[in-house]
Amino acid sequence: MKILVINGPNINMLGIREPGIYGNETYKDLVEKIEDYAKKNWLEVKCFQSNHEGAIVDEIQNAYGSFDGIVINPAAYTHTSVAILDALKAVSIPAVEVHISEVSQREAFRQISYVREYAFKTITGHGTDGYLEAIDALLERLR
Ligand code: DQA
Repeated sequence: MKILVINGPNINMLGIREPGIYGNETYKDLVEKIEDYAKKNWLEVKCFQSNHEGAIVDEIQNAYGSFDGIVINPAAYTHTSVAILDALKAVSIPAVEVHISEVSQREAFRQISYVREYAFKTITGHGTDGYLEAIDALLERLR
């Protein structure tokens, strides 16, 4: 089983960025955690991060025919991007939405999520463990 983990803008700044909200783990720590978990579960995983909306759309389109599931934290694009939603709909690969912080307890502008319309599950506020929970959800769905 092949899983694509996509992270949007500023997730590469984990550890530096607002640690009170996003914690002290770095993006490198996050990737290692995901890769270790994938290995334990005999999964192939690719972690992709971009600050660019179009690059994320390209990555989702390229996943067509080669990935079985997607874990996506679109970060700020969660709240703005119809293009990312449409790309997920286009490839029709099962996807789980993840947010490190508890977005429901934050600003009003963070209460809208376009990808939520497509994702079969959303995990928020569990820190980076949320990515591992998302992988579990995909395994349950796909196996
Ligand atoms: C985030 C929440 C978003 O509102 C924010 O723009 C992010 C990260 C999260 O993981 O909690 O960049 O997606």
